Amino acid sequence: MTEPSGCPVSHTDYRHDGPMLSHYAMASAEREAAPFHRNDSTNHPFWMVTRYEHVLEAIQMPEYFSNSVSNALSPDRKVRFMPNNLDGEEHLRLRRVLNRWFSPAAVRGLDALARQRARDLVEEVAPLGGTDLVEGFALRYPTEMFLATIGMPVEDGPKFLEWVGALFANLYKGPEAEAAVASILDYFDGAIEDRRRGPRDPETDFLSRMLHPEHGPRWLSKEDLKTVCLSLVTAGLDTTRSGLGYVFAHLAEHPDDRRTLVEQPDLVPKAIEEFMRLYSLILQEGRLVLKDVDFHGLPMKAGDIVWLGIASANRDPRKFECPDEFRLDRPNTGHHLGFGAGVHRCLGMHLARHEIEVVVREWHRRIPEYALAPGTALVERGHQLSLRSLPLVWPA
Ligand code: HEM
Repeated sequence: MTEPSGCPVSHTDYRHDGPMLSHYAMASAEREAAPFHRNDSTNHPFWMVTRYEHVLEAIQMPEYFSNSVSNALSPDRKVRFMPNNLDGEEHLRLRRVLNRWFSPAAVRGLDALARQRARDLVEEVAPLGGTDLVEGFALRYPTEMFLATIGMPVEDGPKFLEWVGALFANLYKGPEAEAAVASILDYFDGAIEDRRRGPRDPETDFLSRMLHPEHGPRWLSKEDLKTVCLSLVTAGLDTTRSGLGYVFAHLAEHPDDRRTLVEQPDLVPKAIEEFMRLYSLILQEGRLVLKDVDFHGLPMKAGDIVWLGIASANRDPRKFECPDEFRLDRPNTGHHLGFGAGVHRCLGMHLARHEIEVVVREWHRRIPEYALAPGTALVERGHQLSLRSLPLVWPA
């Protein structure tokens, strides 16, 4: 079936759970069938851009494609995330303020803590001989590292585990998710008031800097500052948990790759990039068309919604040879779009890479041999990919 532009119509609904890797298989099949589709599986039909070259080009056309919609599967979200959903100058001035907290230097500054906490958490589970990584460790660790990054007490981690769990169990929908949003905003409201009463060092304490009369962004209201904090929580914690899930699922099921990384830990950074290509957690970035455009023959109209298929681009054989294979010697791994591209490229990518790298190294130092618990069938969440669980076992 085609629609008037000649573009094939896709009914594929990416919001449902399925076996691990099933969403990549669906996205790859659509990419090979055609470069563009019209998808009618939701209440808001959208254009799908499936191939690497086109996805990269469109990501870099913010004058046509607005981030006010950043997810084609749920374009009518109630919260306007900041900086995620901002465009133009409004977006850039906020990014300039936020970048320093997530720069390579900031991440290096937390290295000792990052290693120590990873060792402590691995030491906690090692004697057990097994754990569900996605349920526990994989969310606990990024939560603590995020809190440390913005100068909040890591002891508050357990509260966030509960809230993030509720937010992502049903992807922002339902009363539990709404209650979690309210609790996160409340938490930061209290923290802002606390900093107003007693400012901390603006070099290390994010909120004190944001409220600082000289160094802080005076144009940012308290409500917006709370939204920024909520946006960082929603953008950074579940994604890193998902990343750890896919990385460890792969290593549990590919003992040769695992042994290579155990024996040659210097290869871990290269491996992380290849994992971010192979297992794109963000299936797609949504965009709103701002003005009519003929995109390689596809007539898009102002107001249309677009799916920029990061996952299908990252497995596009036109760009990556044998794209479904994990290859440490791939020459162009670094061209992957797992963290996006252009002005909205992931704010937390250095932090995320570092967290995953530290966990892989520290885990392998203590637990070099592990496998999936017998009889496990891994299930991935639809919409924004994550494994629902990852039960691992090892000789205790
Ligand atoms: C493996 C983990 C992660 C992955 C795969 C990931 C992926 C992405 C992608 C693809 C985008 C671009 C979205 C777009 O263009 O619309 C993005 C944006 C963003 N990410 Fe990440 N991310 C990860 C971890 C983090 C972390 C740890 C943080 C911070 C704590 C973070 C904060 C953000 C923010 C704030 C944005 C919006 C940036 C902007 O619009 O300027 N992310 N991320």
